[in-house]
Amino acid sequence: MRTYGATVTPSPSMNTEVGRRINAEFPGTTGSLGCAISEAVEAALSQEGYRYVLGSVLAQVLLHQSVIGLETKAALDKYGIKADMIIGCAGGGSNLGGLISPFAGEMLRGEADYDIIAVEPASCPSLTRGVYAYDFCDTGKVCPLAKMYTLGSSFIPSANHAGGLRYHGMSSIVSELYDQKILSARSVEQTSVFEAARTFARVEGILPAPESSHAIKVAIDEALKCKETGEEKNIVFGLTGTGYFDMVAYQKFNDGEMSDYIPTDEDLRKSIECLPKV
Ligand SMILES: Cc1ncc(COP(=O)(O)O)c(C=O)c1O
Repeated sequence: MRTYGATVTPSPSMNTEVGRRINAEFPGTTGSLGCAISEAVEAALSQEGYRYVLGSVLAQVLLHQSVIGLETKAALDKYGIKADMIIGCAGGGSNLGGLISPFAGEMLRGEADYDIIAVEPASCPSLTRGVYAYDFCDTGKVCPLAKMYTLGSSFIPSANHAGGLRYHGMSSIVSELYDQKILSARSVEQTSVFEAARTFARVEGILPAPESSHAIKVAIDEALKCKETGEEKNIVFGLTGTGYFDMVAYQKFNDGEMSDYIPTDEDLRKSIECLPKV
């Protein structure tokens, strides 16, 4: 980013009021998407001529990313392939929401059926262990409330989590589809995610982003299940990015220094208790 002329400040920083507040409340925290959103909103509000556009979670982002689903559907239709499973990683829910939108539409209209799976990290399990409630979209509580599956806006994943998807909540659209059982969710531990990433890199010659590797992990698991049962399935998954920005995480994995942390019920209770009373 510095090569392209940006200055890079780790969040939560001491440069914003909300960053200083978060640092005081969570000393030594490694931050999260929720912290960065609060700081970015403050930076935009406090400078003339600046605007902030959230790049994840919100409905317009999913709408934008639906181009992924439309292109996937066009490619499948062109080759006469019907997907059985559609698998996507889920942080804020935007790539998954975009990938599945034309397929979920068919399901909602009763035209077709798919097995749609959202994959999230076991260290930040908003769909699989969160509650469906109104919550703040950011840690500093400067953004409006949204109804979503959430672990509470004060939830910050443990420092050893290197696999991305560090958001406390989930897009309202994906949350509603999950609540309506149009899609299911699974959580996976990061060491198994990096093992899947390594397999994928060796087979495909593409180093995947740790985030994308959550989807790859479940796609491989499902393909192996088919191998055992002899069932044939067309499995579609979203490959959302490259791993070349995540060398530190790959280094930790390859040096055997990566560990898993699954929050306890007590960890989650503390942040879920702080949900706004609506
Ligand atoms: C490469 C990559 N894929 C996926 C995601 C997940 O975000 P979302 O769930 O909003 O698509 C991220 C988020 O940081 C990412 O960097």
